[in-house]
Amino acid sequence: MDFLRNASIFLALYLNLNWFWVSAVKVSGNEVINLSHKSSAWEPLMHISANLSTISSITSHFEFRTFDPEGIVFYGDTKEGQDWFVLSLRDGIPEVQIGKANMLVSVKGGPKLNDGAWHKLELRSKGKYVVVEINNQEKLELGMKSDQTDEVLTGKIRLALGGMLVDQKKLLHPFNPWIDACIRKGNWLNLSTPWDAEPSWKPSPCFPEIKTGSYFPGSGLALFNTSDLPGVKTEESGVTIEVYGSWHGTLMSVQSNEFQFTFPGVKKKERRSLSVDLKEESGSSNTADATKLTLTFLKHTLMLNGKQELVDESIDFLSRWTDGMILAFGGVPGETENHLQGCLEKILIQGQAVDLDHAFSKHPSISSHSCPVNTVNELTES
Ligand SMILES: *[C@@H]1O[C@H](CO)[C@@H](O)[C@H](O)[C@H]1NC(C)=O
Ligand SMILES: *[C@@H]1O[C@H](CO)[C@@H](O)[C@H](O)[C@H]1NC(C)=O
Ligand SMILES: *[C@@H]1O[C@H](CO)[C@@H](O)[C@H](O)[C@H]1NC(C)=O
Ligand SMILES: *[C@@H]1O[C@H](CO)[C@@H](O)[C@H](O)[C@H]1NC(C)=O
Repeated sequence: MDFLRNASIFLALYLNLNWFWVSAVKVSGNEVINLSHKSSAWEPLMHISANLSTISSITSHFEFRTFDPEGIVFYGDTKEGQDWFVLSLRDGIPEVQIGKANMLVSVKGGPKLNDGAWHKLELRSKGKYVVVEINNQEKLELGMKSDQTDEVLTGKIRLALGGMLVDQKKLLHPFNPWIDACIRKGNWLNLSTPWDAEPSWKPSPCFPEIKTGSYFPGSGLALFNTSDLPGVKTEESGVTIEVYGSWHGTLMSVQSNEFQFTFPGVKKKERRSLSVDLKEESGSSNTADATKLTLTFLKHTLMLNGKQELVDESIDFLSRWTDGMILAFGGVPGETENHLQGCLEKILIQGQAVDLDHAFSKHPSISSHSCPVNTVNELTES
């Protein structure tokens, strides 16, 4: 009987959802889901909703894998978002934030999860308590009580992956939402209905083995404004960018109103009168062996791998850097040719690691924190 009741309610719900989300892509909740390919920061990759009266336990569990230290994983709410819950990572550690009856709560704890291994996570709501279990051990328990909360749950519950359904300004402790992570074996409130994915969602692989790095499959760029990046310390040392990895194509480019340079090996486009041919040095290689490219901006000089490539007294690179040029990884903005393909294991600017999740614009195909282990195969397959 119960089963029949549930089944018919699920069917009704399913039809209902279909009515509202005609164009949405359906995804089964226990599939492997790569959270890294989103087109916007806060919008969920997929969401689902259910009638609370049909839910037997407010428990969800799933397996999770990432190298990313920060980003949004999972969101849930009731009362159309008046009461909400967010699970995210900060410094690799799980953090829960809850908004309920004019209270905002934030709690962080448990082990670092961003080690590239699969971890089992379980989230439970037990009356006034929320419990987070990691690898079958209770790691976080959070209790909250207010005179204003009603304990009887009615109405709808909504869940979302990789984003929030309420304004992120409601967060007590803001964070950068982009996450390069995979989820599998999900069980969401024991629901059997599929999720609705954003219309542009395409299943993308979670590679069997991953390593740290930023993966560019060859279809897009990550853009920074240099004024947001580590700055000039002394005029003598200038600004140094070091990139480690194995790649094909254009590694990076810089542009301002007056000039544009492409590194390495690709013909430079001239804007105004500047002309220099940056020849391919040891940076790019056709064999995709791990290499390193070092680019240094001095006041009037560009150095590539320790060699002086260009001197131009009319350009002050260091004040340009401070004022803000566009630094693009993966190609030249506006050009579709010769995009970077490969794994950038490490990008250092002034010795500090650069996180592509902090780019002001990043193509959804780029994985900021993981590369397939066998990049060479990956390249030849595509
Ligand atoms: C939820 O379930 C209750 C009781 O089963 C029902 O009265 C209500 O109409 C349902 N709401 C929705 C949105 O399906
Ligand atoms: C989850 O659903 C299955 C059938 O779909 C049922 O057998 C099981 O008891 C449910 N589990 C819980 C905890 O409600
Ligand atoms: C997600 O998919 C991309 C390629 O489509 C891949 O580079 C990345 O490693 C995947 N993320 C994880 C955490 O496996
Ligand atoms: C970079 O940022 C600075 C400071 O916010 C701004 O003035 C400048 O216009 C930006 N440059 C570009 C190319 O967007």
